[in-house]
Amino acid sequence: MSAPVDLRILTTPQELFQAAAEEVIHAAVEAVAERGRFTIALSGGSTPKNLYTLIAANASSSLPWNQMFVFWGDERHVPPNDPDSNYRMARETILSKVSIPVANIFPVPTENPDATAVAEAYEQTVRKFFGLRPGEFPRFDLILLGMGPDGHTASLFPETAGLQEKSRIVLANWVEKLKTSRITFTLPVLNAARIVAFLVSGTDKAATLREVLEGSAPGEKYPSKLVRPAQGKLIWFVDRAAASELTTAAQ
Ligand code: 6PG
Repeated sequence: MSAPVDLRILTTPQELFQAAAEEVIHAAVEAVAERGRFTIALSGGSTPKNLYTLIAANASSSLPWNQMFVFWGDERHVPPNDPDSNYRMARETILSKVSIPVANIFPVPTENPDATAVAEAYEQTVRKFFGLRPGEFPRFDLILLGMGPDGHTASLFPETAGLQEKSRIVLANWVEKLKTSRITFTLPVLNAARIVAFLVSGTDKAATLREVLEGSAPGEKYPSKLVRPAQGKLIWFVDRAAASELTTAAQ
């Protein structure tokens, strides 16, 4: 039985980023105290980008960078210096501005033109880091996610094969509407996390957020619905604009 959804509606985007930053710090301090390290998977997209910028500017001294280990929940199949690279975005907004050891950063090896090989290599990196036996999934302390207007999260897009994956950790997921493969953690990884935090801002997400949190459409059409950590917290950081069509939450 998964934990109840923790919906946090913030008045403005800035307050959303501030609340999410506080959660990252809280999760990091707790993980290091309990297990000696903090494992986090970053998301791409503009909403998390604002969070990384805020942390780099205001909270970098609050995080245990030497005990933090940074992965990506998904990545575009582009070189690491490509403008579309999630790694490049995180490097430019935060990782180049804080004292995290390079050895603690695990970018997706997207230089390889074979997307399947990229996914297999990254899966081995994750397996090795977490010391996983066959059939085991990594339990990240925190996985940050965004949600697209179509309800996709990470690179798990509606009606894509990646949604059905039950055993792999990382997949090259073909996204027909983008005419490209995207490298992504699978749902079992997202649902094994101690904490999953969605960051959703803006009125363009309002109808989708209502469907994801309150609607009855199948998860294959709104993949964010399929993220329910089995033994973990699920926090939705949303601003009032994104929450404007919700019927159940106090606005
Ligand atoms: C990516 C992200 C993707 C993103 C959503 C929402 O690689 O782009 O992983 O899943 O989180 O598209 O993006 P915004 O927050 O920019 O709307």
